[in-house]
Amino acid sequence: MVEWTDQERSIINNIFSTLDYEDVGSKSLIRCLIVYPWTQRYFAGFGNLYNAEAIKNNPNIAKHGVTVLHGLDRAVKNMDNIKETYKDLSELHSEKLHVDPDNFKLLSDCLTIVIATKMGSKFTPEIQATFQKFLAVVVSALGRQYH
Ligand code: HEM
Repeated sequence: MVEWTDQERSIINNIFSTLDYEDVGSKSLIRCLIVYPWTQRYFAGFGNLYNAEAIKNNPNIAKHGVTVLHGLDRAVKNMDNIKETYKDLSELHSEKLHVDPDNFKLLSDCLTIVIATKMGSKFTPEIQATFQKFLAVVVSALGRQYH
């Protein structure tokens, strides 16, 4: 089981309690689709992803980015039980959506970059270390139901 210090818990809670879900969610998913274009294949039903401008202006993508962030809320609220919390979501991405689990890491890196850009100098190495630890646990939990 992953151990969290009080300081780590408070860092994660602070990041999420001040997060602009609309902005960070959409920007993170948009960045992932532009930087790693092969991730676009899973969103074929979302409309026009023809080029970077189209991806940036696609309302379905923006909305789904917010959905993903709300998915992370569940991990924030269940930090001691992230694996179990994500059982169904892992199954969905594996068995139904067939998302290659390598992509979880790519999206989480985009999220880190977007948050770092917004927080600027407040995104200290200590805060980054905790955020990366949190995302690594999330990525691992999402990959659990793959066989
Ligand atoms: C759906 C979370 C990564 C592709 C979802 C949903 C959530 C979610 C909460 C909605 C589930 C539902 O409707 O019950 C996450 C989290 C991720 C992640 C927390 C990692 C941090 C990815 C990645 C891809 C992906 C990397 C593909 C590159 C999809 C697709 C859907 C979906 C295609 C279904 C969209 C639809 O048709 O409405 N995800 N996801 N996800 N996710 Fe993920």
